This record gives sequence, C-alpha cells and structure tokens, in this order.
Amino acid sequence: MSLISLLKRKTNKSFFTTPSHGGRLFLFHKFYQWYKKDISEVDAYNPTEALKNAESRASKIYGTKYTKFLINGSTSGIIAAIMASECKNILIWDNAHICHKNGAELAGCNIMEYSLPKDENLGVYKTITLDEVKNLLLDIKNKDTALLITSPTYEGFAANIEGISKLCRQHDVKLIVDEAHGALYPFSDELPESAVKYADYTIQSLHKTAGGINPTALLHSNDNNPDKALSKITTTSPSYPMLATIEANINYLNSSKGKKHLRHLISDIRQLNLPTINDDITKILLKHPTMSGFELSEALYDKYGIEDERTNEKTTLLLCGLGTTKKMLNKLKKALNNMSF
Ligand SMILES: Cc1ncc(COP(=O)(O)O)c(C=O)c1O
Repeated sequence: MSLISLLKRKTNKSFFTTPSHGGRLFLFHKFYQWYKKDISEVDAYNPTEALKNAESRASKIYGTKYTKFLINGSTSGIIAAIMASECKNILIWDNAHICHKNGAELAGCNIMEYSLPKDENLGVYKTITLDEVKNLLLDIKNKDTALLITSPTYEGFAANIEGISKLCRQHDVKLIVDEAHGALYPFSDELPESAVKYADYTIQSLHKTAGGINPTALLHSNDNNPDKALSKITTTSPSYPMLATIEANINYLNSSKGKKHLRHLISDIRQLNLPTINDDITKILLKHPTMSGFELSEALYDKYGIEDERTNEKTTLLLCGLGTTKKMLNKLKKALNNMSF
C-alpha cells in the first residue's frame, strides 16, 4: 500500500494514542484535512511498512541503493550522511551551509576545511573543480576519509560529478554531495547531471525547487544504509501527511505530466533570452550593466513587485521551481526589458 492510499483509508477504531488532536481538534481550521491525516504509528494504520515500500519504490526511480524520505530538510540528511559514511576524517568547504560543519562535529570527525576562490565579477563562489579535488586528494594519506561538496551552489554552478566521483573512488574516499538545490536534476536532460547515481550520498531538498512543502527532502545512498544514523537525529513521531507529500512529489516528478511541466518551465525561462552565466537555467543570475545587484533587487521589488532570493554587490539571484508560472516569468520579462536587459 502506498502512503497516499494509506492516508485515504477510513477506520472506525477509537484512538487512545498520539497525536492528541485525534484528527478532530482543528486548532487551525483551514488545515483540518492535515489534522485528519496526521496519524501516528498505531496498529490500525501500521504505516511503517507503507513508508518502507514508498522509499524502496523511490530508490528504484532514482537508481540508488537506498532513498530515505526526510521531514527535517537537507540539513538532517547531510548530518545523517556524514554519520552513515562512518568516515573518521572529512574534507568540508569552509563556506558551506552550516550543517556541514555541525554534521562533522556531531559525527566526531576530524575536520579538514578547504577554501574555494570567489568569483569577484559575480560576487559568488563557484563550485569545486576537478583540479581542485585532485589537489585536495593528493594530500590524503588516511583511509576512512570523506569529501563533502556542494553542487549545485545556491547560484547554480554545478560540479563535474562523474569525474569527481571517479577520483574519489581511485583514492578510496567517500563522496557526499549536498545537492539541496538540485532536486529537479534527475528528471531533466536540460539541467546538470544529478549526483544520485554517482556519489556515495546525495542530499536533495524537495522544498527548494521541486515543489515540495517545507522542509521535505531526500537522502540517497549508494553506500551504507542510513537508517541507524537517521534514527539518531530524527523524531520517532514522523509526520505522515508530510511523508505522503514526498511520495506524491516523487511520483509527479517521475510522471510524464511532471516531466512535461519541467520541460515547459525550462522553455519558458529560455524565452527570457538572458545571457548564460551559470550551469542551471532555473537559477536566474542577473548582472546588470550599470546597476549593482542591490540596486537591481530594490528596483525589481519596489517597481515591479518581484522579490529575489539573494543579492550581492554584483548580482541578483531569482530562483525558479515547479511553482514558477509563465505569468510570473512574463512579468519578469517585462520588468527586465524596461531595465534594458
Ligand atoms: C547549499 C545548502 N545546503 C543545505 C541546506 C539546508 O537545506 P534545508 O533547508 O532543506 O535543511 C541549504 C539551505 O538553504 C543550502 O543552501
């Protein structure tokens, strides 16, 4: 049984169990459907099996050894991946998301930080290159080492995952990829290659780009089973409505309807005719000929009601995902035309 059909099932059992709202006390009435489906792992439902089946179907879709549903974001997946890898030493980027360092500390690893150069022209860090990985691994004399990289970056720069994974295998180093911003990659040939099939561990936020609700995410492993690690940092009372949205989200991404949706999104963004600065067309990185990133951001917000994701002195970043409509992109096109892009 799928998680979705499990939650559609009716039962006349009386629940003297958690959750305490009993599917009836709708404290916030608009969400009454959510409360109704907010079950716990009681006998009447026994949802653990449905979850296991949903995860194993997902791992077939992604072509991984294990795929785990996360209800505490990529943050929890990255921490769990570091623990599951059983590495003693870990190479982490000194400018990465804070969960990289937190995960390494929680796992009790010996941390080796690496730096990457900033692209001063764009005001952003690009991702790690094959040569940079080669240099990092030259110095590795220890086995039990993992390399943790971020690809794509927030701003849409993607690494040569296939090459990096080959290098890591040659050096007996485990590869963990923070693909929080790349959850759409396995479902389109027009986006950078996903790490899911190459890396030992890949973590993706469904909520960032793939239409998932906050903070749904996935942890893929081609190495150890992450269950034990996840159990150390995850609640024993998972939200089944949230888990069911993950199942539905993956089914949609993998369906012909979902793939068509993504193709249309990419083609609509292409119609903006913007210069290519990064590797991922869904992360629109704007550099105006005369305005600073901050000035552009302010003008977009004040004059056109368009809010960006992130801005620096040089560039402004607009993130697109499954929820980005043609209407929104047309509005953006008009605004950019008016600002001589
Ligand atoms: C590169 C990167 N990795 C990991 C995370 C953590 O993801 P989540 O919010 O899904 O926990 C973020 C969040 O912004 C991120 O930007």
